[in-house]
Amino acid sequence: MPGAETFRASADAYDRFVGRYGPQLATALIGFAGVEPGMRALDVGCGPGALTAMLVERLGAARVSAADPSAPFVDACRARLPGVDVVEAGAEALPFADDAFDATASQLVINFMRDGEAGVREMARVTRPGGVVASCVWDYAGEMTLLRAFWDAAREIDPERAAAADEGVVMRWCAEGELADLWRATGLGSVRFGSLVASAKYADFEDLWSPLPTGVAPAGAFCKSLEEDDRGTLRDAFRRRLGIGEGPFELTARAWAVAGTVPG
Ligand SMILES: C[S@@+](CC[C@H](N)C(=O)[O-])C[C@H]1O[C@@H](n2cnc3c(N)ncnc32)[C@H](O)[C@@H]1O
Repeated sequence: MPGAETFRASADAYDRFVGRYGPQLATALIGFAGVEPGMRALDVGCGPGALTAMLVERLGAARVSAADPSAPFVDACRARLPGVDVVEAGAEALPFADDAFDATASQLVINFMRDGEAGVREMARVTRPGGVVASCVWDYAGEMTLLRAFWDAAREIDPERAAAADEGVVMRWCAEGELADLWRATGLGSVRFGSLVASAKYADFEDLWSPLPTGVAPAGAFCKSLEEDDRGTLRDAFRRRLGIGEGPFELTARAWAVAGTVPG
């Protein structure tokens, strides 16, 4: 899968980039999935812990577990959320017993898995019969404003390389309805598909831009790979496409969401 290694990054850079949308998106995903107090839940691909934190708010730390293959993100999640069982592991081989959870969710992760089908099978295995498996991914090709504008700007600067890296093109499971097909193919029942919207506030354009040259996430990795002059041109094109002047602004982002029930 394209780009998973770009999350061996600092949690701070991630927070300042797409992490800003995390808490709102997590609240929406928890509502969509129907996670209720009293349940035990697992966050797969937890990153620094946006969804984990919202699950803790609803269920309490003792009822929440989390997994991610990125060591710096696991460390950040453990430090931020004491009492949560956070393990360093990928979705394709989750170190949890069968039927251990009432709800298993992943936020912005399926498209980064090495093997998405195996990851969802594992999410279903660790969830009890009748429990819920839910996920969301960005609408990269459409209304994830930040990343759509970034890749459109990148295509102006280096059309060939940007087209080969554009998440709106290369990411699996991110077109409308694809997650639902994956859920049904995995044998999950009562599959529901929908969209979630989150927003993020920025102090100014520099606030938005500053994490990108660190190399975080696929967009950051592309940005970092450019010569300094090209990076400056990308910065200008990105700002123009977003229509950002001076001072604060807000962007919205759409994610596709899916939820299904474990049969049996
Ligand atoms: C865009 S981040 C999302 C992080 C977090 N869920 C959030 O909403 O902020 C993608 C995450 O997927 C993780 N990841 C990459 N490959 C994975 C895999 N095979 N299984 C589980 N997580 C994976 C990355 O380490 C990273 O933390």
